Amino acid sequence: MSRDDRVPVHVLLNGAERTLDVQMHDSLLDALREAGLVGAKRACETSDCGACAVLLDGKLVNSCSTLALQAEGRRIETIEALGRREALHPLQEAFLAHAAVQCGFCIPGMILTMHALLERRPDASLAEIRDALTLCRCTGYTKPIAAVLEYQRALLAARGATASPDGSTEAP
Ligand code: FES
Ligand code: FES
Repeated sequence: MSRDDRVPVHVLLNGAERTLDVQMHDSLLDALREAGLVGAKRACETSDCGACAVLLDGKLVNSCSTLALQAEGRRIETIEALGRREALHPLQEAFLAHAAVQCGFCIPGMILTMHALLERRPDASLAEIRDALTLCRCTGYTKPIAAVLEYQRALLAARGATASPDGSTEAP
């Protein structure tokens, strides 16, 4: 098989069965962007920034550092599955409400990462949220953190818990 030969990779992509035609060396990021899903961004390509974050079988991965072939038979969710222009996810709404976006390049990865964290740990502390934040080169982190905390408060209230100002939770 030559380096340029393509192989099919069968995935459940944002809820739909898809076959991605990939080259052996393609990253999952390459394959997704070639398939028209450009929400995951190409930045450092060294697993340092999180701009390319996607969920693979529900687990957050850096798609720049994951081979497309590794996705065979697996479930992928990208930022495109979280919300649509006409029906944004509440976390996306919170980012808008807090003007937590400047150029926007890092925002899909940041939102997907924060969403994954709060799905796994709705009571994540402020320190955990800060630690998990993906890199942003222009907005800074004050507004994104405010947006995430507002979303977390709403999430916890809906589940009958409350968050203290430092982000830790308290029983109702
Ligand atoms: S582009 Fe993948 S972690 Fe930065
Ligand atoms: S908003 Fe520009 S890099 Fe984050």
